[in-house]
Amino acid sequence: MDGRKPADLRPISIEVGVVPVAAGSACVRWGTNHVIAAVYGPMEAHPRKISRQDRAVLDVRYNMAPFSTTDRIRPGFNRRSREISKVTSDALESVVLLEMYPRSKIRVEIEILCAEAGTRCVGLTAASVALAHAGIPMTDMVVSVASGKINGVVICDLNKEEDNYGEADLPMGMLPNSGDLVFLQMDGDLSPDEFQQAWDYNMEAGLAVHEIMVQALKGGDS
Ligand code: CDP
Repeated sequence: MDGRKPADLRPISIEVGVVPVAAGSACVRWGTNHVIAAVYGPMEAHPRKISRQDRAVLDVRYNMAPFSTTDRIRPGFNRRSREISKVTSDALESVVLLEMYPRSKIRVEIEILCAEAGTRCVGLTAASVALAHAGIPMTDMVVSVASGKINGVVICDLNKEEDNYGEADLPMGMLPNSGDLVFLQMDGDLSPDEFQQAWDYNMEAGLAVHEIMVQALKGGDS
């Protein structure tokens, strides 16, 4: 509908340092998605019961602003935002060297200002850039893309219509340097061949997005 070919990503730009009071931050515009991630800490883990003797904990909060979609989103946590916060945290735990900061907490805030499908992927990608911008040691940055199927055709990086009216959605988070997978969800049905195609699209797109992440951190054009 927007003129992309099946393998095409939506336009992406990334900027760091958009929240100067945070330890690290990133703004990602991806299609008409507009997402900000901000990282605070490492700081003492509060409340005490979440504290771990041997490592830091990641406190990840994904939130959609009430004005981010045409239907107003009720402020506060809901089932969907809890789920996305949890899977984002699990993915980031695979790369952040948490054992370097015992009894600490690293707060990762992801705010969706404008939503156009794939916001969990954009949020995870933005959080990775914000963590790197904050200087938090990581083995790699997670990059996340969702491909899927609409009208029987597998396509890369679903937009809102493709997500809402399509037959399947496969969001994935991968590590560009190793090709390891740290996050995968799936909605709908894909045949093994279609699944492989969506997987390949995500992997290939992930490498392209990773270059934009690195450029943004180096201070170059993104
Ligand atoms: O955003 P993502 O694709 O990761 O998650 P989703 O639950 O599959 O939602 C797809 C899209 O539907 C979102 O990006 C929003 O554009 C829209 N949406 C909405 O308008 N209202 C909601 N309460 C949830 C999602």
